[in-house]
Formats: sequence, structure tokens, C-alpha cells
Amino acid sequence: MDLKGYHMWLQYQPIKDKQYKKAIAPFLKNIRSVENSPVLSNAMEELAMGIKGMFNIEVNYNLSTEEGIVIGTTDILEKELGRDVKSSLHEESKEAFEIIKDEKKLFIIGNSVQGALYGAHHFLRSLQLKKTIDQLEIISSPKNDFRMLNQWDNFDGTVERGYSGNSIFFKNDQIVQNKSRIKDYARFLSSVGINAISINNVNVWEKETFLITKKHLAEVKKIAAIFRGYGIKLYLSINFASPMAIDQLASADPLDENVKKWWKDKAKEIYQEIPDFGGFVVKADSEHRPGPFFYNRNHADGANMLAEAVADFGGKIIWRCFVYNCLQDWRDRSTDRARAAYDHFKPLDGDFLDNVILQIKNGPMDFQVREPVSPLIGAMQSTNQLIEFQVAQEYTGQQKDLCYLIPQWKEVLSFDTYHKGEGSTIEEVVAGNIHPYKYSGIVAVSNIGDDENWTGNTLAQANLYGYGRLIWNPSLTSEQIAEEWIIQTFGEEKIVRETILDMLLKSWPTYEKYTAPLGVGWMINPGHHYGPNIDGYEYAAWGTYHFADRDGIGVDRTEKTGTGYAAQYQIENQRFFEDLDTCPENLLLFFHHLPYKYTLKSGKSIIQHIYDTHFEGYREVEELIELWNKVEAYVEETTFNNVADRLSMQLANAKEWRDQINTYFYRKSGIKDEKGRTIY
Ligand code: GCU
Repeated sequence: MDLKGYHMWLQYQPIKDKQYKKAIAPFLKNIRSVENSPVLSNAMEELAMGIKGMFNIEVNYNLSTEEGIVIGTTDILEKELGRDVKSSLHEESKEAFEIIKDEKKLFIIGNSVQGALYGAHHFLRSLQLKKTIDQLEIISSPKNDFRMLNQWDNFDGTVERGYSGNSIFFKNDQIVQNKSRIKDYARFLSSVGINAISINNVNVWEKETFLITKKHLAEVKKIAAIFRGYGIKLYLSINFASPMAIDQLASADPLDENVKKWWKDKAKEIYQEIPDFGGFVVKADSEHRPGPFFYNRNHADGANMLAEAVADFGGKIIWRCFVYNCLQDWRDRSTDRARAAYDHFKPLDGDFLDNVILQIKNGPMDFQVREPVSPLIGAMQSTNQLIEFQVAQEYTGQQKDLCYLIPQWKEVLSFDTYHKGEGSTIEEVVAGNIHPYKYSGIVAVSNIGDDENWTGNTLAQANLYGYGRLIWNPSLTSEQIAEEWIIQTFGEEKIVRETILDMLLKSWPTYEKYTAPLGVGWMINPGHHYGPNIDGYEYAAWGTYHFADRDGIGVDRTEKTGTGYAAQYQIENQRFFEDLDTCPENLLLFFHHLPYKYTLKSGKSIIQHIYDTHFEGYREVEELIELWNKVEAYVEETTFNNVADRLSMQLANAKEWRDQINTYFYRKSGIKDEKGRTIY
């Protein structure tokens, strides 16, 4: 079996450049760690593996040598280095690292063992990218403290919105016995700086509810230990009604003393097994999951009850804000799902305990190809927040269609909320630099499964890699991240680098062109959410999300004449979105209901724009195929075929979208051609 795709970006491909090898090799023969810790052992193991792969050197673990790599934490290495290492690192975060060249030694120093591990990964990446010795010297500190992934894995082994096979954690209602894949996953994640993970689906169904019981905790503990070795904290998603499901309590009311005690005892039991357990991720009162509403309590009551239970152990409650009325009647155009998160949570600012963190999707709807930034992010000054992205491409091609998402996330991070005046970007809000959040950062839904190449489409690995790199250092560009990933994954051949870079950077705009236009969103098949179904989205059963009628298309979300959603932003942004002159055209139909013949800045009408972009998008997929064919000789066969197959599925998908969208909207608009015929 070909294992190339399996190693993702940690291929450690042999370096051919002789001069480079000669310059670096002397540093690589010996490595030693000055202290014992499982994290540092893993760092040493990784260094040895990488050096063997790239330089064909078997490292010695020689303690007395003059040459080589020394790895460890600031305190201990200070003595070794004979100078105040702390002076350069102590201002930085606990997870920061520094690489210093000192004569014939290279010191990889962390403010913690995790920091040192990140330093080792940075070092290996730099070698694969052929950085010179001087370029290796660096101090690096993560911008965000929380750098998390959510697995949406179910106990039966399926993965909700999983497009890469089954779970690597669960199978047939058991936790997997062979955990080698989990260890490799931890390696990949630590290599890009991820430091927290929840391993089960946010939708906690009956079987998953029991993950927090004795029956399963021993195995969960083993998984926690693997991740701990890579600096990653383990969290579990829980069912808010667990006391009833597990121990038949009469209620799950968060203000009921028996319920409170039940959770306190439960927390104690978990922390006895896993002393550094991260805490709970909670989806409550959302899409039919139980929550405090049933007892006439609010989200703060629910979250705080759990927060109290884990507080003594340093645990956190990550409470999701993806709460909306699934039964909304979309024929009533005055109510608006986009408003829901803000309407539910903003009034509760200040009511949450300080170990509660709200998890807010990047947009007000649901990971669409184009949405405005959620107005809730940064709107709560006194409540910790995490922004949630989706690496899994639920609405962006499901890892069949190519869609490199880093540019989308960069756009989100650069959005200025104006919450503390100009410069209050999402990037700064979630980094905790605008409001005094105790905890904040970024979380995303993972895109991996047990497929040999982890991500279904091998090129979708770039999204996982890029997610980690971006949230460590949001100032990296989409191009830089893509290039790094390409070289580590496919090698440094110019044609490969340029071609795949081109493909990745084109892919999001292309996907947008042949799917939902101008920010209107949705129009996907109900249930599985792949392919077009213009009126079909399940939660729009009594209407549509695009509001297309014979007079126009789009949703009026202005304050004066629409749903008022735009008023959830600071005034600067409200004005910006409400004014047709300034509203970005790619969000025009998100904020406005406009006639089909409304003229865009390009001089084209909306209907013409929809028509043309759908043809363009299809053509661009044909171009992606041509581009991929150019690298056939340079890419290993299984990977080549994998991507080629996916691209042909993408082409079929683009065609279907193009034809359905264009036919539907022409018919709807009633626009006639010059002979008076309805065009479709
Ligand atoms: C989307 C997705 C669901 C998921 C939900 C969530 O609606 O389709 O599968 O459970 O998001 O984020 O909770």
C-alpha cells in the first residue's frame, strides 16, 4: 500500500542540495535533551525521524559532545547556555520557543516542554524548506492561547460531516484499541501548534453520553495521555441531560441541587482519571439537543452550573452559540436566523463564570462559502470567546471539490468590529487584545478520518495544516502557508510548487462562482449538504433562504426595512452593510433584497452576473483539471489519481450547480429574451 499520503506534511523528504546538507549536517549528528519529560521524548523522536529522512543521518544521543542540538526548557537550559535565556523569552507566552545558534550547538528552547516541542517542529520544517543556519534563529510565540480542534466523531465510528472515512477514535461503539493512528494525528497537530482537542461529536447522542462513565474513562485516559505527550489537552463533548440518561435523575435543571451535585461528582471522577482534563464542550438547546431552556433557565445558568463543577480542577466549559430556532417559518420574513446567536447571548454578557468560554461560528449562519462575520464576536466585553471555523468542508465541497479555506479565514480575522474603535479586528478580539478575556482563541471542526490520506482529498490536507499555522501566526499569508505545505508534502520542484499554489489560491473563488452567488448562501441538498437544491435546505422547509420571488432576490437585513440584523454590528459596520454603495457585492444579497435587473459595479445586472459567474466557475474547474495534469510526472501515483478523481467529481458538481441555478433564477425572474421567450 502506498503510504505517502499518510504522512501528510511530515514526509521528511531527502534533501538533495549537497551544499545545504554540508552546511547543516554537523549540527545534526547529536541531539540531547537536558530533562526528562514525555513531551521532550516525543520531540527527540521527531527530530531523529526528521533528520534521518531528510539527511540520512542516524542521530546519537550523546551527552558529552561539543556539536549538536540541545533541547529543553528555559530554566534548565539557562545554565547550559551560560547566559540569561529567559531575558529573550520570558516576556513571551508559556508556549513560546526560541532557536539559538551558539558556536557548534543549536539550542531549541521552550518556555515549557510544549514550547520546546513546537521549536523542534519549527526546526524540522525550516530544514525541509531549506532555511539557512542564520534563518533558523527565531523567537516565536503563538498569537492565540486556545488553538483547538473539534472532532465530530460518533461512537459507532461514523463522523458527522466527515468526508474522509470513519473515526480514528471510535469503532462499533468502542474506543479503538490500536491507538497508533491517534499518536500520528497528535504528531501532525503538534507540528502546527494545536493544543486542545475534543474527540467526540458536539451532538452527543445516547451512546456517546456514556463516554464520561467508568465503562469508558480508562480508554479515554489513554487517549488523553497520547495527546498530553504532544502538548494537547483533551476535552469531551457532553450531553446536557447526562444526569437523567446515566443515573436516571428526575431532571437536568441546572439550578437543581441534585443535578449540581451529580456534575460535581462526575467532574471529580473524571479528574481522578485525567488530572489535566480540559473540560466539556456543550451544544445545548440547539438542533434538538437538550439544554437549560427546558427548565426555563438561560445559557448562563446552564454553563455556570457545569463551570462550577470543573472549576476546582482548572477545567473549562466551552459553550456553543450555534443556537437558533430550527422550526422558524421562513415565509415570515421579519424573523431571521442570522440574528439568533446575538439575540440569545449578547444580553447575558457578564453573567458567565470566568471558566466559561463561548464558542461562536465565524458567520451568523453556518459555514457558508460566503457570510459576513458574526456580530457576536467581540460584542461581549466580559465573556470569554472563541471563534469557530470549519476545516471540514461541509458547505464548501466536502473534500471532493477543492476549496482552500485559509483566504476565507484570513478575511474573517481581518474584519474590523470597531468594538473599541478602529483596529478592533477579529484577530485581536480572539487573541484577547481588545477585551480583557481570561481565555480566548480559535477552534475548528476537523476534517480527518481513517482514509489512508486522512482527508479524503489529499489537497484538503492544506486546510488542516493551514488552520494550525494561521492561528499560531495570523500574519502569515495564504500564499506562504500554501507554499510551506506544498514543499513539505510534494517537494520543491518548481512546477509542482507553482501549479499547486495556483490551484489552491484559485479554488475558493471558483467554488463560490459556481455555487451560491453574492452572499445568498445555502441552496444545497437537505441532509447531506452536497450539490444544489435551490429551495431544499432542511431548515427552510416552509420557505427559502434566498427569498427569490418574481421581483427580486436576497434578504433585506437592514434596520429600517428588513430584519434588523445589520444593527447588531457597531454603527460603522451597520452603515457599511446597509448602504448599497458600500456593501461588498459578494455580500449584497445577504443584506439586501434586490431586483434581478439591479446593476452591479461591473455594469452587469444581478441576473447576468449569476449567469456568467456560473459558467466561469465551471470553466475554472476545467482549468484546475488542466493544472493538475501538469504535475502528473512529479506526484506519486496514488495521490495523483486521488486528486484527479476528486476533480472530476467537482466538475460534475459544478455543472449541476451551473445548470440548476441558471435555469431556476431565469425562470423565477420571468426575464424574456429578445423574442419574448422566458429564458431557461
Ligand atoms: C451544522 C451541521 C450539523 C452540526 C451543526 C453544529 O448545522 O450541519 O451537522 O451538528 O452545524 O455545528 O452543531
